[in-house]
Amino acid sequence: MPDIDLATPDLATPELEPTGARPVPASRPGTSHTPTIDQDDPGTAGTGRTDATGSPSSVPLLRIEGLGVSFLERGGIGRTRVLDCIELTVRPGEIVGIVGETGSGKTTLARAVAGLTPADRGQVRLDGQDILGLRTRARRRFRRGGAIQFVFQYPLRSLDPELTIGASIAEGMAIAGVGSRSERAERVAGALTLVGLDPAVAQRRPAQISGGQRQRASIARAVVADPRLLLCDEPVSALDASNRNHILILLDELRRRLSVGIVVISHDLSSLAGIADRVVVLYRGRVVEDGPIADVFAAPRHPYTALLIASAPDIHGRNRQAAAALRPAPAPGIPDPTTTTTTTTAATATTASTAAAGPAPGPRPDARDVGGCVFAHRCPFATVDCDTAPPRVEAPGRPAGSWISACHHDRTWRARLPTAAAGTAAATAAAGTAAADTSAVRKETSL
Ligand SMILES: Nc1ncnc2c1ncn2[C@@H]1O[C@H](COP(=O)(O)OP(=O)(O)O)[C@@H](O)[C@H]1O
Ligand code: SF4
Ligand SMILES: [Mg+2]
Repeated sequence: MPDIDLATPDLATPELEPTGARPVPASRPGTSHTPTIDQDDPGTAGTGRTDATGSPSSVPLLRIEGLGVSFLERGGIGRTRVLDCIELTVRPGEIVGIVGETGSGKTTLARAVAGLTPADRGQVRLDGQDILGLRTRARRRFRRGGAIQFVFQYPLRSLDPELTIGASIAEGMAIAGVGSRSERAERVAGALTLVGLDPAVAQRRPAQISGGQRQRASIARAVVADPRLLLCDEPVSALDASNRNHILILLDELRRRLSVGIVVISHDLSSLAGIADRVVVLYRGRVVEDGPIADVFAAPRHPYTALLIASAPDIHGRNRQAAAALRPAPAPGIPDPTTTTTTTTAATATTASTAAAGPAPGPRPDARDVGGCVFAHRCPFATVDCDTAPPRVEAPGRPAGSWISACHHDRTWRARLPTAAAGTAAATAAAGTAAADTSAVRKETSL
């Protein structure tokens, strides 16, 4: 049986004809900057995000404040903190991308928002309602309302292979006792049309349709509930290039037609570049950067974001050298655990690190546990401040379009790059925005 448990009821099913993906918004470089640790630049302008009616959507649909999740360690003694101090906002009709390496907490974040993984601190508000604070019965009612829906990487997590596509899509409505059988069939047909499938697909089983069609069907299962928020966890990672594009275009259309907020989790930056308004970068369970995607991709403020972007061949194909300059120099005799391409990079990394102020680079203690920066042990620009003082991104109620980064030196580290690497980084950063909406199949980037 599928493990999705977010049910389904009412549905409005406007018709949809997939069109071209929305172009990446033009870059809006930041304005004045004060190098504080709590960056919040409303002056960097919003994305101009509009809801389905074309009006600017400044009212948050989803507001996450101070969210923390921890898991019991093996043996039951102690807890491992997986998410900490998460701040995130999604507006109606907005697509927010979440990126970060494997294990950074992306899936846990989505599950916590959906109430599938318990949070141990913080708030999650949907349309102003604190959904983590709901008691059992109210929580069940909320789930049955279907306001938050999941789309998984593998559609078979939400489509039962034994059921017809139509029965899977109607399942939530049937459980909730919504409508008659024929009314539910009508809604299923509407949802299939909405995602660009022939309603006749309802009679087939998942094995009888293609991978791309299966992902469309799983999206139909989500939208049949008339959700406010779609959480898409690696929705295109299992698809080929062509299907990937079609699904991304579909998500872009859905947010306009339904004014639904969409969170797209991906390790693949290029998937997000063509559709997302904002990108949130997670590292070891913390938000390290959050801003308009075109701005962030063009000139990332956090060294980890810069490394992530520089290491993505499809975004910055010529940026290997700059990526090396963003990695710490390995200590003599100790391989750098953060890279799989150490052989050609050590010299450049050493140069970059030598140019940096502060203590000698190389393996550093993990500063997270003593309140320092989560990236300090990997960052070639770390100074003593970074080991002890926490860079913060908390800025409750910050306006749309703000751009924040959790780095003490977010406006100065770039100047410490060796000239050649900085030049390459700048050139490829500029190229990156244009290259960002290419959409070939990408491999996961190993940092
Ligand atoms: N149910 C769980 N129990 C214990 N640890 C978990 C559980 N779920 C996830 N984790 C851990 O939380 C961290 C983040 O996992 P996850 O959210 O899946 O990361 P991502 O989706 O970014 O790859 C990982 O170290 C993972 O092992
Ligand atoms: S705060 Fe310091 S260690 Fe952290 S990313 Fe910025 S420069 Fe690097
Ligand atoms: Mg995951």
